[in-house]
Amino acid sequence: MIMAKIGIFYGSTSGITEEIAMTLRQKLGEEQCDIYSMEEDFDEYDQLLDYDYLLLGCSTWGAGDVQNDWRDPLFEMELEKPDFTGKTIALFGAGDQVDHGNEFVSALGKMYNHFQKLGATLVGEFPNEGYTFQYSSALLNDKFVGLPIDEVNQSDQTETRINQWVESIRPIFLNN
Ligand SMILES: Cc1cc2nc3c(=O)[nH]c(=O)nc-3n(C[C@H](O)[C@H](O)[C@H](O)COP(=O)(O)O)c2cc1C
Repeated sequence: MIMAKIGIFYGSTSGITEEIAMTLRQKLGEEQCDIYSMEEDFDEYDQLLDYDYLLLGCSTWGAGDVQNDWRDPLFEMELEKPDFTGKTIALFGAGDQVDHGNEFVSALGKMYNHFQKLGATLVGEFPNEGYTFQYSSALLNDKFVGLPIDEVNQSDQTETRINQWVESIRPIFLNN
């Protein structure tokens, strides 16, 4: 199998983060991106290590928890500590800043800490302007550590946000 340059892996319970993942692939180029559903296509974390460039999608559930399909893989990596040195990772995921504004997209913060500890280079921060919430563990120096999408309350901004984010990561992921 010939691998694309970028691996997109997403966990999505009701399909919102999946939709974002599909859009990202389309915008970066289908031939540049292989796409994996954590539920259907993921067997082992070695699949992540096949790529030097990763876009990882994870919505937030529970109270600031990662989407269900990410739980076991993250746990396994915590135990076995695979080396992500040299890997470039950008994070994205759906949340709800009104009903869950006390942990808005906090799964992105968990993913960030996880992969940073394993040596990855995390890119793809996003400004927090235009979002209203009480707390998020996905904030670092007043910026989100990845792309937060709120389809529940701000679906009208989704396209603009995705476009803005794609243009910010494109030079890093595709050298253009
Ligand atoms: C029980 C429940 C718990 C949730 N917890 C959070 C949360 O802690 N933080 C957040 O930002 N969104 C939370 N959400 C909102 C979801 O992240 C949001 O609906 C998102 O669009 C789901 O994306 P997905 O379809 O890709 O899984 C929660 C939703 C439900 C139903």
